[in-house]
Amino acid sequence: MLDRLLYRAKQFWFAMSARMNEENRSFVHQYLNIKEAALFFSLPDYEQKHGVVVAKRMMREAADMKTIDKRKLVRLGLLHDIGKTAIRLTILSKSLLVIIHRAIPPLYELFAKLGKDEKSRKFFRRFYVHKHHGAIGADILKKINEQSDIINEVLSHDRPCTSHDMYMRLLDKVDSTY
Ligand SMILES: [Fe+2]
Ligand SMILES: [Fe+2]
Repeated sequence: MLDRLLYRAKQFWFAMSARMNEENRSFVHQYLNIKEAALFFSLPDYEQKHGVVVAKRMMREAADMKTIDKRKLVRLGLLHDIGKTAIRLTILSKSLLVIIHRAIPPLYELFAKLGKDEKSRKFFRRFYVHKHHGAIGADILKKINEQSDIINEVLSHDRPCTSHDMYMRLLDKVDSTY
């Protein structure tokens, strides 16, 4: 149990401290248009890095899958957490949120509920945005006239995994390990 927890903490810390580099930035520009890239680069650095790592891993996972549109897959990897642009999360507040999510799920749910209103206290709003970042991301993408298939995939990020198509299943697999 303690081993597992330590492993998780290490993995989490590694993910949080990862930084974007020039190669990562040009990778993003290869796949996203100007409006999408502007949104992407407004994410905190550690979330940008997460998007790049996820997108690259998805591409690797799908290397032999003939029916998968690789460009769409990478774009989904980059844009899947774009809803997190709705509120600024420092590494410390994200850590607290993740710990509560894992250790006391009912409290996480309660806090998320209390943050539903846009004007609610920032503390609670963070939980709401974290819980619903798929739907929030889909709304943000609609505003920049994103393709409907990407909007629908991002929206389904909050929905049960059983409803996911192949693109989202690839995302689920990679997203949970990084
Ligand atoms: Fe996510
Ligand atoms: Fe993610």
